[in-house]
Amino acid sequence: MKVLLVLYDGGKAAEEEPRLLGTIQNKLGIADWLKEQGHELVATADKEGEGSEFKKHIVDAEVLITTPFHPGYLTKEVMQTAKNLKICITAGVGSDHVDLNAANERNITVAEVSGSNVVSVAEHVVMSILLLVRNYTPAHEQIIGGGWDVAPMARHSFDLEDKVVGTVGAGRIGYRVLQRLTPFDCKELLYFDYAPLPEQAAKAINVRRVESLEEMVSQCDIVTVNCPLHEKTKGLFNKELISKMKPGAWLVNTARGAICDAQAVADAVNSGHLGGYAGDVWNVQPAPKDHPWRSMKHPLGGGNGMVPHMSGTTIDAQLRYAEGTKTILQNYLTGKAQDPANLIVENGDYVSKAYGKRDTKAEERKEEVRTDGKA
Ligand code: NAI
Repeated sequence: MKVLLVLYDGGKAAEEEPRLLGTIQNKLGIADWLKEQGHELVATADKEGEGSEFKKHIVDAEVLITTPFHPGYLTKEVMQTAKNLKICITAGVGSDHVDLNAANERNITVAEVSGSNVVSVAEHVVMSILLLVRNYTPAHEQIIGGGWDVAPMARHSFDLEDKVVGTVGAGRIGYRVLQRLTPFDCKELLYFDYAPLPEQAAKAINVRRVESLEEMVSQCDIVTVNCPLHEKTKGLFNKELISKMKPGAWLVNTARGAICDAQAVADAVNSGHLGGYAGDVWNVQPAPKDHPWRSMKHPLGGGNGMVPHMSGTTIDAQLRYAEGTKTILQNYLTGKAQDPANLIVENGDYVSKAYGKRDTKAEERKEEVRTDGKA
């Protein structure tokens, strides 16, 4: 069996730090284990263009393991060349790099390591909210640059207390973000999600559900995006939706770059309509040198909290998603059923309910049982 790993090149850092598991150097810690079983393992970071190693090896790979931090984009066209492909495993969370509808047509399973890095991301979100609201980055840069001038920094610095914060998506990460915000005594915590939180969970953190996204964003001082990228969320934060946000509001997106229209966000930050934008996810990864999110700036300075895709890949997270990837692979090799929480699509259908509101065969079956009165 051929296993293809598409991961980022960790270079010297990965040679020196073996816990950087999500790299081609350390291969998620599964290289020896697979070799002992006689399987072939190809690990590459070369994923773009027709002549790439990814395109070359996907042709006869049975298993593709890739990571949202350096995704091998499995489009419908690439999938058509993948004659033996049976399962795609995401080392991490978020499987939008796979054309999931095409995977269903081909009966390819897509699984990810659910929950593996949700705390890592939630912590990054809270940090990003604070660094934008407190105007941290330009103040820090001023110090590094040898300066000392308080007023221009304080001019665009506020308290998080008494602000309204809303999340788009209140799943594992969105809920954890809100949980972590409760000690800050925000004015109100809001969420927009087609799947309502269980009553007890909502009550525990005193969060209010808002039925319309436009309505929610217009009430927020801070919006955090925590839903997957799918047909309905691609380009969701476009010029129109951003115009509904309060002037000076802050936007944090650690979900997927393509949920936001890159130019619309940059224009809103540059004009000062947004107080700032922060996140680690980009619509193209690695992001090109001239990406507008690298240089956008609020008219008062700062307002840019962008970093490379790193929030969900702390050392702690890498250990968890490497372990989880191995379990999924082991289940596949031994014919054991996968943990349903890790399944995005299987047997030609969506198992996860997070990739858009749709009538999956699974839901239809459940509905039939319910209307039969048997459950
Ligand atoms: P989850 O599946 O637990 O929760 C996602 C929630 O989003 C669900 O409650 C779902 O109903 C909701 N949702 C889906 N479409 C929506 C829409 N149109 N509007 C509002 N809500 C919608 O997923 P989890 O673990 O919270 O992760 C969320 C996303 O975060 C992942 O899909 C991934 O894209 C991203 N992520 C980013 C990481 C990073 O390193 N930056 C690491 C891990 C995840």
